[in-house]
Amino acid sequence: MIRSVVAGVGAYLPARILTNAELSTMVDTTDEWIVERSGIRQRHIAAEGEKTSDLALEAAKRAIAHAGIQATDIDLIVLATATPDETFPATACRVQAALGIHHGAAFDVQAVCSGFVYAMAVADNFIKAGQSKMALVIGAETFSRILDWNDRTTCVLFGDGAGALLLRADAGQGDIKDRGVLSTHLHSDGRHHDYLYVDGGPSSTQTTGHLRMLGKEVFRHAVVNLADVVKETLAATGLSASDIDWLVPHQANKRIIDGTAKKLGMGTDKVVLTVERHGNTSAASVPLALAEAVNDGRIKPGDLVLLEAMGGGFTWGSALVRW
Ligand code: UT7
Repeated sequence: MIRSVVAGVGAYLPARILTNAELSTMVDTTDEWIVERSGIRQRHIAAEGEKTSDLALEAAKRAIAHAGIQATDIDLIVLATATPDETFPATACRVQAALGIHHGAAFDVQAVCSGFVYAMAVADNFIKAGQSKMALVIGAETFSRILDWNDRTTCVLFGDGAGALLLRADAGQGDIKDRGVLSTHLHSDGRHHDYLYVDGGPSSTQTTGHLRMLGKEVFRHAVVNLADVVKETLAATGLSASDIDWLVPHQANKRIIDGTAKKLGMGTDKVVLTVERHGNTSAASVPLALAEAVNDGRIKPGDLVLLEAMGGGFTWGSALVRW
C-alpha cells in the first residue's frame, strides 16, 4: 500500500519575544500566574507587516532544505490556519507562488488548534489515493492579530509561529512496521462553539473580530477528548501507550499535556514540551514541537510518534507516524 513518509520538517518563530514580565505591564497579570496555570514563559510576536504566509514560507523553506528536495517536487500544499493573510484567497496559494510552484493544488484547512492534525490527515489521504506524490503540510498562525490585548484571560496564552512537514508517497507493507503515517483520527462537535471562537468574520460582522474563550470549559473537554482520541488511535493499530516513543501534543497548556500523559500512563520523558517558549501557536504548535525534537535528535528514524491536538469547533484529532 502507499504510505505518506515524512521527508523533512521545518519551523519558524518571529524574532520578537514577548515575556510574561512585559505582559504584566500591559494587563493585570503576573509571571507566577501564567507559569503556574499554563506553563508559558514567553511567546513570539510577528513584526509589523509580517504575515502568516511569511512565517509559513520560512518554515516551508526549512522543511524543503531538511528533506533535500526541490520546491517544484511538491504537488500539494495543505496549510492549516485560523489567521489567514486575507479572507481569500487561501494563504497556501501565497506560499505556493512564493516557492515558485505553479502546478498541483494549494488550499487552506480551518480547524483552529487541531488544524495541523487535520491537514496531515487530508494530505495523507491524497497520497494514499494516489493524487499526490509530495505534499507540503503547514501550520502557520499570527494569533497576536486576533487577540484582545485588554483581556488577560486570553492574551497571555497565545503566540505566533509556523511549522511545516513534507510527506512523500512511498511503498509500505500495510502493517504497523511501515514508515509513514499509520493512522489518523479526526473529530468535531459544533455544540461547543461558544467556549472558543472569534467574535467576527466576513459573513457576520464584516470585521476580523477577537478571540473569546472560556478557558475552564476548554480545559475540561481537552483532557477528556485528547485521552480518548489517543486511546482510539492505539485501539485502531493494536498498540499500547508503552509502544509510543514520542507524544507530540498540541502546545496549549502544560497542565493539559501533563494530564493527558498521566491518563495514558506515559512518562513525561516521552512527551515533547515546547509551550513554555512559544505559548499556544494554534495550528503551528505541533509542527514547532516536532521540528525541535527532530532537530535536537530526540525523534529518530523508526520511532513511533503520536501527534494530538484539540481546538475551537470543538475539533480534535490524532496522527500516528513511524518516523
Ligand atoms: O488550544 C486549545 C485552546 N485553549 C486551551 O487549551 C486553553 C484551555 N484552558 C486553559 O489553559 C486554562 O483554563 C487557563 C490557563 C485559560 C486558565 O486556567 P484556570 O486554572 O482554568 O483558571 P481560571 O480561568 O479558573 O481563573 C482563575 C482565576 C480567576 O480569578 P477568580 O475568578 O478565581 O477570582 C481569573 O479571573 O485567575 C484569574 N485570571 C488571571 N489572573 C492573573 C485569569 N486570567 C488571569 C491572568 N492573570 N492572566
